[in-house]
Amino acid sequence: MKNQILVTGGTGYIGSHTVVELQQAGFDVVIVDNLCNSKAEVVDNIEKITGIRPQFECFDLTERQAVRDFFGKYKQIKAIIHFAALKAVGESVSKPLEYYRNNLTALMNILEAMRDFGVPNIVFSSSCTVYGQPEHLPVTESTPRLPAESPYGNTKAISEDIIRDFCKATQGVSAIALRYFNPIGAHPSALIGEAPVGVPNNLVPYITQTAAGIRQQLSVFGNDYNTPDGTPIRDYINVVDLSKAHVVAINRLLNGSNKANYEYFNIGTGRGLSVMELVNAFIKSTGVDLNYKIVGRRAGDIEKIWADTSLANNELGWKAEKNIEETLLSAWNWEKNVRGIK
Ligand code: NAD
Ligand code: WQD
Repeated sequence: MKNQILVTGGTGYIGSHTVVELQQAGFDVVIVDNLCNSKAEVVDNIEKITGIRPQFECFDLTERQAVRDFFGKYKQIKAIIHFAALKAVGESVSKPLEYYRNNLTALMNILEAMRDFGVPNIVFSSSCTVYGQPEHLPVTESTPRLPAESPYGNTKAISEDIIRDFCKATQGVSAIALRYFNPIGAHPSALIGEAPVGVPNNLVPYITQTAAGIRQQLSVFGNDYNTPDGTPIRDYINVVDLSKAHVVAINRLLNGSNKANYEYFNIGTGRGLSVMELVNAFIKSTGVDLNYKIVGRRAGDIEKIWADTSLANNELGWKAEKNIEETLLSAWNWEKNVRGIK
């Protein structure tokens, strides 16, 4: 019998790609999502890619009784991948309570159900945001976490701590937190990808929407940083590579090869790219010209960060494989598919 995995936030951007990788690795997947930032048709598109329709339950994970009813119904779940969260950094500054309530209550309902229904394993979506602007680069897992810049970032730090304490106190449970750097790109089928609601906050969706003519111009936020070309540096990780890290983490938990019952790993490429390097790589790989303008800095942005991925490479045996050109091309193919551009 296939091992059954619960993927919360499974119709979202990273969740949907992970469902595909899990199914292709032979897992039976159940998605829970309340569709607050995704669409039910994602389930159809996952089925088009894999030929297997994941089970889908639509409810809000902040509702404690609904979570308990779910685990009462699905008794075979062996592990959880918990993606479901609100993630807009700027919005979290103006709506802190909504962010704390959604992200922390959902997590605690899930952990409580793990304890009460005997589900032993969880993989959690954390973020490089927990490092803030580090003093030394690249960042390793022993780089100290810094106080979060935003309520969103704070929910990730607090969630990591809650999971660590829960694992310490609860026999038979194990967790892996994956600290993602900047996920970008889309599935090569162009059937699933990132679908931001309204004006995108993140760089790559803004680039692809500008290339598609939906936005007039990309604003490059600042070229006076202390970096080689003056624009900020990030570690952009292909979403399919990132999704595969989840399959590896799930296997590690299921076969008990984890070295502690709470572990955390950086998931990036190990390579930093500046905004202008990324813009130029997009133009080169797609052949599409991009209208952009250098403007002032965006408040709250950090200057540079990229990952030391040695721990994930050596301990998980996982490594990012796709290069930036094919990743940006995949993002562009997805945008073209969504907009009906030939
Ligand atoms: P996303 O918004 O596309 O997916 C999250 C999904 O969770 C959505 O489908 C949403 O409808 C669902 N959801 C939110 N709250 C819910 C609730 N209370 N009950 C049920 N469903 C709920 O986001 P994503 O980019 O796929 O991110 C997935 C996870 O990875 C999040 O935890 C995010 O914080 C984390 N992360 C994302 C990035 C990034 O840049 N995309 C970087 C680091 C970490
Ligand atoms: C990347 C670079 C911008 C848009 C955010 C969250 C972080 C994590 C990943 C979840 C920056 C520049 C952007 C634009 C631009 N998410 N930019 N013009 O800020 O690294 O991280 O997403 O955990 O927590 O903060 O990603 O894609 O917004 O920006 O010049 O229109 O692109 O200034 O240097 P960021 P991003």
